[in-house]
Amino acid sequence: MYRLLFSTVISRVPAEAVHHLTLRGLRLVQAVPGAPALLRRALAPRDPALAVRALGLEFPGPLGLAAGFDKDAVAYEALGGFGFGHVEIGTVTGRAQPGNPRPRLFRLPRDRAIINRMGFNNEGSAAAARRLRSRRPGTIVGVNIGKTKAVPEEDAAADYVASAERLAPHADYLVVNVSSPNTPGLRNLQAVEHLRPLLAAVREAADRAAPRRVPLLVKIAPDLADDDVDAVADLALELGLDGIIATNTTIAREGLASDPELVKETGGLSGAPVKARSLEVLRRLRARTGDRLVLISVGGVESADDVWERIRAGATLVQAYTAMIYGGPLWAARTQRELARRLRGSAFRTLDDARG
Ligand code: FNR
Repeated sequence: MYRLLFSTVISRVPAEAVHHLTLRGLRLVQAVPGAPALLRRALAPRDPALAVRALGLEFPGPLGLAAGFDKDAVAYEALGGFGFGHVEIGTVTGRAQPGNPRPRLFRLPRDRAIINRMGFNNEGSAAAARRLRSRRPGTIVGVNIGKTKAVPEEDAAADYVASAERLAPHADYLVVNVSSPNTPGLRNLQAVEHLRPLLAAVREAADRAAPRRVPLLVKIAPDLADDDVDAVADLALELGLDGIIATNTTIAREGLASDPELVKETGGLSGAPVKARSLEVLRRLRARTGDRLVLISVGGVESADDVWERIRAGATLVQAYTAMIYGGPLWAARTQRELARRLRGSAFRTLDDARG
């Protein structure tokens, strides 16, 4: 049904317009008293074998919504209602900013992929904090923070710290995003000599601002060289970080079948084409860190089989974004249900047992 709607109607409307319409619809759903809870009752993963205990939280299922969809924390409750075990809001920056000029979001259906150069369009961390202050329980919310474009690289830490102070009190976990290709210079912060002081400053800010210890993770790019992946893993252990999210979108463009004009668009590529590298980075991180970090695997996850493969490769939790665009609003609920079936057909009793 959704596939038909996608090919006949949705694919003819500019991608960003569809995105804003969807968000508006989700906000409407959320405004109806009791609607998110009702949706959760119908669509949330219910099989206790899927539950994941991590970061001091109890996730109803391993699959969550990756950052970038609900940048301003306006629809996370409704999104949680549609079957995601957690929702990562953001990227939120220290100051509000418009992002890059449109068009900046491109569908590549032939490759089951998206290219985006949104550029962290968001209302800033003060606005997100105001929204999250009135959070109701029921949805696990991660908060992903990044650098304001206008802030020079040498002042990046102060910008992240401002956001961490505002948002840590309202976050179930906090993510330092240093891996978007759409903010000039941002990915340089992945180099250990820049990342060490940045993460230390954010950790301190979160501890200052929140009464409890908020788990802190870092999100990395699939384009990092293997040695740099290892270096970030070592640093995460050294600093006592809680985990790593791998991976963000890629600037690579290999093996795509879409129109070359589309492939040439600048930005981060997501979906099926990042699957192989994302899995490779996960395996490398798990081999390097053993069971000492929570690893959230994201990039090209399209099916219950993909989620299963990530769990078997050592992922604690899994996220997706692009697959929902092509799979429709019931994609997450369906995938968690199929995953429960996959687990029951395996030699393992729970996901914890199955984790590689
Ligand atoms: C993203 N992603 C992203 N990530 C992030 O940390 N902050 C962000 O603001 C965004 N914004 C964003 C916008 C759009 C339109 C897309 C498609 C993606 C990256 C996303 O969270 C994820 O890491 C990648 O998309 C890879 O996962 P999928 O899409 O292949 O499941």
